[in-house]
Amino acid sequence: MIFVTGGAGFIGSNFVLDWLAQSDEPVLNLDKLTYAGNLKNLVSLEGDARHLFVRGDIGDKELVLELLGRHKPRAILNFAAESHVDRSILGPGEFIQTNINGTFGLLEAARAYRSELPESAKNAFRFLHVSTDEVYGTLGPNDPPFSETTAYAPNSPYSASKAASDHLVRAYHHTYGMPVLTTNCSNNYGPYQFPEKLIPLVISNALAGQPLPVYGDGQQVRDWLYVSDHCAAIRRVLEAGKPGETYNVGGWNEMANLDVVHTLCGILDREAPRAGGSYRELVTFVADRPGHDRRYAIDARKLERELGWRPAETFETGILKTVRWYLGNQEWVRDVQSGAYQDWIAQNYRDRE
Ligand code: NAD
Ligand code: DAU
Repeated sequence: MIFVTGGAGFIGSNFVLDWLAQSDEPVLNLDKLTYAGNLKNLVSLEGDARHLFVRGDIGDKELVLELLGRHKPRAILNFAAESHVDRSILGPGEFIQTNINGTFGLLEAARAYRSELPESAKNAFRFLHVSTDEVYGTLGPNDPPFSETTAYAPNSPYSASKAASDHLVRAYHHTYGMPVLTTNCSNNYGPYQFPEKLIPLVISNALAGQPLPVYGDGQQVRDWLYVSDHCAAIRRVLEAGKPGETYNVGGWNEMANLDVVHTLCGILDREAPRAGGSYRELVTFVADRPGHDRRYAIDARKLERELGWRPAETFETGILKTVRWYLGNQEWVRDVQSGAYQDWIAQNYRDRE
């Protein structure tokens, strides 16, 4: 069995679904079900004995220890986190709590559990920590992309909290011999992404005829990766990654935000035409994100060279699948947009106009 944390969120639920589509090895899924966690993502696994869901906090060491002792997983994959940069700017406390203290609690439980394992299981055990390219800070237009040896320089409370968790994971390898693996990935997109992040926000605002908010001049660059490619990279690192190593994961697909928004408008103009004009007319420039990183780019050659991973999707294929998924799953969108979502939108966009 593998033990996944945050498996009801965007990437975690895609990972669990992909894993069980390819393997019969059961998944123990621990998720706190914050605003970003949604069991509807996993509805296709209802009644599937290979998926065991537990609601709880990664920082609850007693709970985690009890689950580890009872189910004896061969690996922990830590997806659980507070993940939205804008939320970390308006309220950093939860990010410190989950991303730093939570990861610490999980590592402590893993250390205690592993210490009781027989030697062969101890050596085979893995703690895989899912992290982000944002820990490396920001790049100038002509800088080389982030590699595994780029110095950490996080700029937001979110990225600082992820950097702290990466350092804790690293320290548990060096100090306690924990067989850890860390992945640092670029921006993901695809099914089940919560519509507060750029791509699903633009799709759902466009369909509702609402403004498409572009921060600042829209020339910030991100490297976009389709979520199932990220999941495949994580499976490969779990299978063959070298304990103590970090692996950068990226899509070789740098794009300015405004180009991403225009691409989405073009697809929507074809797939769900709007009466009276193009969706582009809804693009609205709004006040920038404080401390907004200008450019991220990932050098993913280590993962390709050492473990043979490359993304299967191009941005063109992945983004079309994504738009079609959102068009076909409007009920899922409506469901997550009820209640507290509206408060967040009001809070984040109120002072930007
Ligand atoms: P998400 O916000 O969609 O999901 C996070 C999940 O973690 C939710 O299900 C939430 O309920 C759960 N969670 C939060 N706090 C918890 C806690 N204390 N205990 C247990 N569960 C908790 O995030 P995501 O976009 O799926 O990101 C998953 C991981 O991948 C994060 O660690 C993030 O930093 C990393 N990452 C994300 C991206 C991206 O583009 N989304 C890119 C690179 C890395
Ligand atoms: O790089 C990996 C990171 O990608 C992950 O670690 C984070 O968990 C994930 O949320 C994502 O962070 P970003 O801040 O890059 O994602 P977001 O979708 O919030 O924003 C993408 C870009 O679009 C960013 O430059 C800000 C901009 N943006 C975002 C929103 C929500 C806008 O211009 N308008 C918006 O309304």
